[in-house]
Amino acid sequence: MQSESRQAHWQNVYTKKGENEVSWFQENPAPSLELIGQTGATPASAIIDIGGGASRLVDNLIDRGFEDVTVLDLSEAALQAAKTRLGNRAGQVHWIVADATVWEPLKAYDIWHDRAAFHFLTEDRDRAAYVARLERALKVGGYAIIATFALDGPERCSGLPVVRYDPASLGQTVGCGFQLVDARRHAHATPSGSDQSFQFSVFRRVTSRQT
Ligand SMILES: C[S@@+](CC[C@H](N)C(=O)[O-])C[C@H]1O[C@@H](n2cnc3c(N)ncnc32)[C@H](O)[C@@H]1O
Repeated sequence: MQSESRQAHWQNVYTKKGENEVSWFQENPAPSLELIGQTGATPASAIIDIGGGASRLVDNLIDRGFEDVTVLDLSEAALQAAKTRLGNRAGQVHWIVADATVWEPLKAYDIWHDRAAFHFLTEDRDRAAYVARLERALKVGGYAIIATFALDGPERCSGLPVVRYDPASLGQTVGCGFQLVDARRHAHATPSGSDQSFQFSVFRRVTSRQT
């Protein structure tokens, strides 16, 4: 999928649907918060939520005192929904409207979090572009927490095909610069009452970028 049509798709979704009318809505992003906590992150840790959309993770990170939080998404409408919800607190967050496969990171982060964005990349070149950004934007010793649909999860989301992963296949995709340090499954209860199997995989960045 071209970056422009991807952006048009998601902009349309967030323009037409409220925060809790989408299948991925989560009142409480507990699995992400728990895994972020387990990395040993401190309030000074730089955290980026890739494809963060209108997720409430950012609210929770601010509540916990995190001072360097960035949310990146290709839909401006998604980020606007989060900003409106946060009100004055939105000023504490760095907001980036960009496609994660073409974005040029300007700094390196301690934690890279992605819940349900990476799995929409169904083409090798897009996955390679994403991993190149991950390598550039995650400090050595930092952690990437990537949640995708599990092997028994849905094959589509928001009308788009996805790639499902287990920790091993995701590890192969991100490459040998990342060591798998944790993995857990999570049954996400959608607002319409069905369950979706997610796989959370946590990788530690172990080597610097090979150029
Ligand atoms: C299923 S939603 C998940 C949103 C959020 N992570 C959450 O847990 O609520 C997927 C999100 O990824 C964003 N997205 C999809 N492809 C992207 C890309 N290539 N770059 C940046 N964001 C992307 C979409 O705009 C959307 O907000």
